[in-house]
Amino acid sequence: MSEHWIPFNRPCVVGNELDYVAAAFARGHASGDGSFTKECQRSLEQSLGVPKVLLTTSCTHALEITALLLDIQPGDEVVVPTFTFVSTINAFVLRGARPVFADIRPDTLNLDEAHLEQWFTPRTKAVVAVHYAGVGCEMDTIQQVAARHQVAVVEDNAHGLFGRYKGHHLGTLGCLAAQSFHETKNFSCGEGGALLINDTTYIDRAETIREKGTDRSRFFRGEVDKYTWVDLGSSYVPSDILAAILCAQLEKRDVIQRARRRIWDTYEQQLASWARGSGVRLPTVPAHCEQSYHMFYLLMPAPAARDALMAHLKQRGIGSVFHYQPLHLSKMGQRFGGRPGDCPVSEVTSDRLLRLPFYNDLDEADQARVVREICSFRV
Ligand SMILES: Cc1ncc(COP(=O)(O)O)c(C=O)c1O
Repeated sequence: MSEHWIPFNRPCVVGNELDYVAAAFARGHASGDGSFTKECQRSLEQSLGVPKVLLTTSCTHALEITALLLDIQPGDEVVVPTFTFVSTINAFVLRGARPVFADIRPDTLNLDEAHLEQWFTPRTKAVVAVHYAGVGCEMDTIQQVAARHQVAVVEDNAHGLFGRYKGHHLGTLGCLAAQSFHETKNFSCGEGGALLINDTTYIDRAETIREKGTDRSRFFRGEVDKYTWVDLGSSYVPSDILAAILCAQLEKRDVIQRARRRIWDTYEQQLASWARGSGVRLPTVPAHCEQSYHMFYLLMPAPAARDALMAHLKQRGIGSVFHYQPLHLSKMGQRFGGRPGDCPVSEVTSDRLLRLPFYNDLDEADQARVVREICSFRV
């Protein structure tokens, strides 16, 4: 009998998720901003030390709220790493911004802060720091350069919940930050996100934008006697049923992070010698960064080797996946002037990177099989 399929990712129940969903129905509150939403927000505010957290329907939507809060106008420029998910920039392009694609560092695959200034012009309004794989960007330099040019720093922390940079939680360093609770993330409710508001001057307007441009939150607090349309906005509030699932996952923070740390450390230790002998690079985590244990990737010596390893694993019942295609080379990126060779590190990285199975209940036997099959591959 052939062995079972080991997927790249799968959602799993770690604690009280199903009971809390039942409780959301029993409490008679399935729409947004019920007690589970409030509990998730309180828990994140407390554990991260963020003044205000608002759950959203996705990280994409948290970024869209950010673009509205920063009052991005047509012609403004926003600097992003080209090696990122489309939402990091699409949220700003929706407001009329021109994307400016920056290259990444070859070690952490984060925005190359040493060359950041070259991407700035007098029209630059924001820079988005993406903490790839939950390893912090060099925020000290990014913040210094941005402050010199009076440019807002936003963190796309989709991967990095509970990671730290020089002791500070990722998501607490920019004026605003976006989290993802999509199925592939450490903590998930299927689809979901959060806006972390570090600059408190944005709180009131963020509440309004998230509530379809109305002052509904103020109405519920008794601050106005009816609610009405007061600003731009959209429907960014997730159902309390999803918040119930997330709440159960956040309660298991230690269990989830311990499991993921074991998986990450096992890959690193057991693949080290094969990688050394095969010209394969494993992830780099600088000493001053505590990573979030979000993903484990291999950087293969050549694109053909990456594709061959992916096929080798697939034949043996193991799912592995590549990651971002550089945005400057996408159809939309080229419309904004992106050309091959603009961001060489991102271009070679994208063609050689392979992500390995990584989910909260990946057990030791399955992971041992993944490791065995990788080590049987001759580069
Ligand atoms: C860096 C980054 N930002 C944003 C997103 C979008 O997250 P969501 O699916 O929650 O909108 C992703 C998706 O994985 C991502 O990798």
